[in-house]
Amino acid sequence: MTSNFRHMATIGIFDSGLGGLSVLTAAARLLPREKYIYFADSAFCPYGEKTPGFIRERCRTITRTLLEKGAEIIVVACNTATGAAISELRAEYPAVRFIGMEPAVKPAALGTRSGVIGVLATAGTLKASKYLKTKGDWEDNCTICEHVGKGFVELVESGRTEGSEAEETVRASLQPLLSRGADTIVLGCTHYPFLLDVMKKVAPEGIRFIDPAPAVARQLLKVMDSEGISHGPVNEGGSPERPAVELLSSGDTESLRKMFDRIEF
Ligand code: DGL
Repeated sequence: MTSNFRHMATIGIFDSGLGGLSVLTAAARLLPREKYIYFADSAFCPYGEKTPGFIRERCRTITRTLLEKGAEIIVVACNTATGAAISELRAEYPAVRFIGMEPAVKPAALGTRSGVIGVLATAGTLKASKYLKTKGDWEDNCTICEHVGKGFVELVESGRTEGSEAEETVRASLQPLLSRGADTIVLGCTHYPFLLDVMKKVAPEGIRFIDPAPAVARQLLKVMDSEGISHGPVNEGGSPERPAVELLSSGDTESLRKMFDRIEF
């Protein structure tokens, strides 16, 4: 019809649970007119302590579901699943483009003033060869210390993202990084941005937190453009409307819906 008509794309996004909604938020802010299908693997959450083999099997099952529902591109919105499964997914589905998570070590290393950065992630991510490679690339530039965000995923999954319990839990994992002199903290798990307000509250003034979600959203756009996947207009600022999102869960859909409804786009 009109010459500037552009199709909306169907974008599949998944995580072990609700954490990947932080990536969905960034993607939908940038590309507000697409159709999103979000899959929370809540029946098997958390992935953090599961074996790579188990996580890979879950990722295959979820990928099949998303493709059956029409996803044209898939965002693995989970650092742990990216570390455990993205190479296999790419090999097994060569026609599908997968966008993975990357702990934001590079911007942290380039921006630190103290020369010490802290990475908060799951045990699985911190052991994965993908992360170890990134760390190896940057550890000549700065000191990189790590800590598992113990109990963070459980807080987010149950919606307990504020109050004294959240503050105590966050303080216990943040303190070891701060006491080593970290001035920049990388959020290496997609659940953790939902605890950002608490982190800012318990950390001293001036500590910088890096959430990779906006960079992942830009990477998604870049890959869609290079693959010729048509999409709607790119939002250059301003508040987009709530995006069209189909919510799927292997567990409790109610808590997924509740968390989604809390998001401000
Ligand atoms: N949100 C996930 C990540 O980015 C995993 C959390 C978990 O299930 O342990 O690593």
